[in-house]
Amino acid sequence: MPYYVTTPIYYVNGEPHLGHVYTTVAADVLARHMRQRGDDVFFLTGTDEHGEPVAQAAEREGIAPRELAERNAERFKEVARRVNATNDFFIRTSDPEHEAVVAEIATRLKDNGHVYKGFYEGWYCPRCADFKSENEVLDGNRCPIHLIDLDREQEENWFFRLSAFQEPLEKLYADDPEWVLPRSRSNEALSFIEGGLNDLSLSRARLSWGVPVPWDPEQVIYVWIDALLNYYSALTYAREGEDLRERFWPPSVHLIAKDILKFHAVIWPAMLMAAELELPRKLFIHGYLLMDEHKMSKSLGNVLDPFEVMDLYGTDALRYYLLREVAFGQDGSISPEGFEQRYVSELANDYGNLASRTLAMIGKYRDGVVPDAEPVAEIAAQFDGLVDTVRERIDRVEVSAALEDVWERMRGLNRFVTEREPWRLAKDEANAEELDQVLYTLAEGLRVVSVLLHPWVPETAERLLAALGQESRSLDTAVLGAASGGAQLGELGQLFPRVEPKAEATA
Ligand code: MSP
Repeated sequence: MPYYVTTPIYYVNGEPHLGHVYTTVAADVLARHMRQRGDDVFFLTGTDEHGEPVAQAAEREGIAPRELAERNAERFKEVARRVNATNDFFIRTSDPEHEAVVAEIATRLKDNGHVYKGFYEGWYCPRCADFKSENEVLDGNRCPIHLIDLDREQEENWFFRLSAFQEPLEKLYADDPEWVLPRSRSNEALSFIEGGLNDLSLSRARLSWGVPVPWDPEQVIYVWIDALLNYYSALTYAREGEDLRERFWPPSVHLIAKDILKFHAVIWPAMLMAAELELPRKLFIHGYLLMDEHKMSKSLGNVLDPFEVMDLYGTDALRYYLLREVAFGQDGSISPEGFEQRYVSELANDYGNLASRTLAMIGKYRDGVVPDAEPVAEIAAQFDGLVDTVRERIDRVEVSAALEDVWERMRGLNRFVTEREPWRLAKDEANAEELDQVLYTLAEGLRVVSVLLHPWVPETAERLLAALGQESRSLDTAVLGAASGGAQLGELGQLFPRVEPKAEATA
C-alpha cells in the first residue's frame, strides 16, 4: 500500500523552533510506523521560501531573500536530520523544478476558466501573507494572529474563482465528515465555507520574490498557491528520472497546525478540483505547543531550543516528550520541568530500568540466554490486541494516544516485576520453571513494546532490540509470544542516563 505523508513547508524567515520540530516528528512517527507495516512510504517536508514573509524578513536584515532562504533552509534541513526524521525528500520552493510545476498548474487553472483579472482592496497581513476578511480583523485593524497593524492594500491582479467552489466543498465535507480530523476542525472549516467564499488573489503585483505569472510576468504567483503546490510538485522531481505521481498521489495525510487550516481545508481542495487533480485523503490538524510566558525567560528558554534539548537529553527524549506531553490535536504547555519529570519517571524509570533489570536478571540467572517458555497469562491478556489498537490509532493520526496505549503495558510490566520478585524465585531451584516463565515474559514484553515504540524512540528501541538479540522490526511480530526463547543477550548500557539540567547551571 502506498502511504504519502507531509508536513507544512516552513517559512525561512526565521530559524526552526520546537513548533516546527513538533509536526516533523509527528509525521516521522506516521512514516516509520507505516514502513513497519510494510507499506510503500513517501514522507515529505521542506521550506517555503517565497512571498512577503521572507522578502520582508530579508529586507530587515539588509540581505537578499535568496540569501536568507539559503541560510535558513540549511537550518531546517539540519534540524530534520538531528531529530532523526526519515523524510524521503526535502523540498524547497525555490527549486526550479517546483517553480515549473507552479507555472504549469497556474496556467491550467486559467485554461480551465477559473482565473480572471480583478481589482482588490482589503486588509492584508504580510506575516500571514493573507488578506483578512472584515470579520477576522481585530479592533484597530490588526492581524488576529500576529497582532500587528494590517496594511490597507489595493491591487489589480489575477484572481482564482474560489467562490465557485462553495458547493463542491460543502459536498466534500458532507460526504466525508472525517476528511479533516479532529472533527472540531472539520466543523470550523465547514462553517468558514458556509459563511461564503470570496475569490482569492492568485498573484501579487508588488512583489518580485516569487514565481512569475506565466501570462503576466510583471506579477508573481501568490505565495500560498505556490506553497500548497509543493505537495504535488515534489513527486515530479524527488527521484531523478522518476515520476512518483502515479505511485503516491494523492497524499494519505497532510499534517498541519490550526493556524493554516483555511489554506489547507478550503483553498487547497478548491485548487485541486479546479486543476482536476485528486484530493488528499485526509488532513490532520494539531494544536499549539504553548510556553508559559515567564518561562520563556532567557535562563530557561534555552533548554527548549531543539538543538540544545537534544544535546542534553538525546533525540529520542525530545521526540517522546513532544508527543507525550500534549495530546496530539489539542493545545498544550511544555516546560523544562515537565521535560525533566517525564525523562526521569517514564523514560529512565519505566523503560530504562525495566530493560536493565530484565537483562541483568537473565544474565545472572540464565547465563544471558532468554529462557524458552510460555508467556504468563496475565501479561499476555494485557498485550492481547495491542498491535491492532496501535494500528487503528495511527490510521486516525492519534500519535499521543497510541503512545499512551503502549506505555500502559510498560507500566503493567513494571508492576509484574515488583509482584513476582524474580530475585526471590531465583533463590529456590524448585521455582525454576516459574522463573523461566517470568523472565521470558519480561523479555517478550520488552521486545513487543520496543517494536511498537520504534517510531517514537527509534535509537532507544533499536539499541534494546539489538541487546535482546532480535532482528525483526516488523509490526507482524509485535505480538507477545511471537518470538521463542533462546536468544543470546548483548550489551545494553544505560538507555537514559542521568542528566544535569543545564538550565540550573546557566540560570
Ligand atoms: N509556510 C507556511 C506553510 C505552508 S504549507 C503549504 C507556514 N509556515 S510556518 O513556518 O509558519 O510553519 C507553520 C507550521 O509550523 C504550523 O502549521 C505547525 O505545523 C508548525 N508550528 C509552528 N509553531 C508551532 C507551535 N507553537 N505549535 C505547534 N506547531 C507549530 O505556515
